[in-house]
Amino acid sequence: MNKHIVTTDDDPAIRKILQIMLKKEGYQVTPCKDGNELNDVLRTDGDSIDLVLLDIKMPGLSGFEVLELMQRSHPRIPIIMLTAFNDLDTGMKAIRAGASDYLAKPVRREALVECVGRVIHESESQRDEQVKKSQYLSYQKELEDGLQAALGSLKRATRATLEAFSETIEQKDAYTKGHCNRVRNMAVAMGKILNFSQDHLQIIEGGSLLHDIGKIGISEKILNKTTSLTEEEYEIIKMHPVSGERIISHIELFQPYRPIIRNHHERLDGTGYPDGIKGQAIPLDVRIVTLADAFDGMTSSRAYRAALPIEIAIEEIKLYSGTQFDPDLVNLFMDNEIYLL
Ligand SMILES: [Fe+2]
Repeated sequence: MNKHIVTTDDDPAIRKILQIMLKKEGYQVTPCKDGNELNDVLRTDGDSIDLVLLDIKMPGLSGFEVLELMQRSHPRIPIIMLTAFNDLDTGMKAIRAGASDYLAKPVRREALVECVGRVIHESESQRDEQVKKSQYLSYQKELEDGLQAALGSLKRATRATLEAFSETIEQKDAYTKGHCNRVRNMAVAMGKILNFSQDHLQIIEGGSLLHDIGKIGISEKILNKTTSLTEEEYEIIKMHPVSGERIISHIELFQPYRPIIRNHHERLDGTGYPDGIKGQAIPLDVRIVTLADAFDGMTSSRAYRAALPIEIAIEEIKLYSGTQFDPDLVNLFMDNEIYLL
């Protein structure tokens, strides 16, 4: 379809010349004598207009006033301003005000054809670009929504797997029923007080639930033994952090829990196992879970002993603050009564 150009000039001779020159190039032309007539065309036929040629000096609304109005009402339509001969300043002012270009009168045919063709082409390219951009944005939104949904389902699946694993550990060791869950609650509460991000809290949570996963490789006879362990049996028990790390080594999603699983029996003074690391070399997440694990271990019944009363367990934790446990975390644990969870 022919491109539709509206010319606006109060001089009938110029309107005629512009119409002849543009029609010769195959354009559909609607001549207007002033801003009011142009407004009428815009109202009735605005969608079909590809370009407006606008004289600056007109009776009634000036070209600049029409330009400003059109910027608000029809920002899509490009405008070429017609200026007096050699009036470069006005032309530049028109461009700054939002016109696509300007032509000096008297308009030469070649200049008109070149300018009109170029401005229409640029305007179409811009529109195509905007369409592509909005298509891209909606495609991106679709992808993000899909990804969000997949992530949600992955998170639910991970959580279900974590729960299943911790259930497995607890079923194996009858005396640790609810232990992983309680360690999780206390460790996450400490993480929240330390302003951990959601992702960080998730690591604390998963690590707490899985910290003893290595126990599934230990014989129930040893785990549930009611008498003292032999040295050999104790050595087997001590292998559970490393076995646990090996068990989860094939599950990519569980890799963030590795330090907690491997090192939750380290002690601040370096006398723990399996690596004997000490102080700040033990990651903070690990120190948190270690404290929660030890406290819950003391206050739960075990095959070989009854549960300690909370007050005694609190004293034990305080006693080993600085040697077994991080003293700052012990203070946090006591000050915030985490032991009541
Ligand atoms: Fe353990």
